[in-house]
Amino acid sequence: MKVTVCRKEHFNAAHRLYNPAWSDEHNTEVFGPCANVNYHGHNYELVVRVTGEVDPDTGYVYDMKLLSTLIKTEILDTFDHRNLNLDTTDFRNLIPTAENIAVIIWQRLRPHLAAPLGLSVTLFETERNFVEYHG
Ligand code: NI
Repeated sequence: MKVTVCRKEHFNAAHRLYNPAWSDEHNTEVFGPCANVNYHGHNYELVVRVTGEVDPDTGYVYDMKLLSTLIKTEILDTFDHRNLNLDTTDFRNLIPTAENIAVIIWQRLRPHLAAPLGLSVTLFETERNFVEYHG
């Protein structure tokens, strides 16, 4: 009997979408105002889903307190109120699109979860634009 538990979190961060291999003109063509040199911010909504068997002793798939703490230490402490391009090592050589941010979040969380547990990450960059990564 597999059940998915979900934890919603929030962080604010600045970024710029820019491919250094391209000219400024081409960056603007592809990324529009997201390539603006002085960065811009988003209120990111993050949903982390952990899927597994319900432990008969606790009735839990995964303790939500632990999941909350894990997201805080692995993600929020690093990304919240930061410039993703400048303040993190994750996006030194990786364009911080919602797609890439979701993958990085998944990669940061995965090693902390037991192998039988499934993990998926949904990242809302705006209310209407969101991405999912299931590993
Ligand atoms: Ni943006």
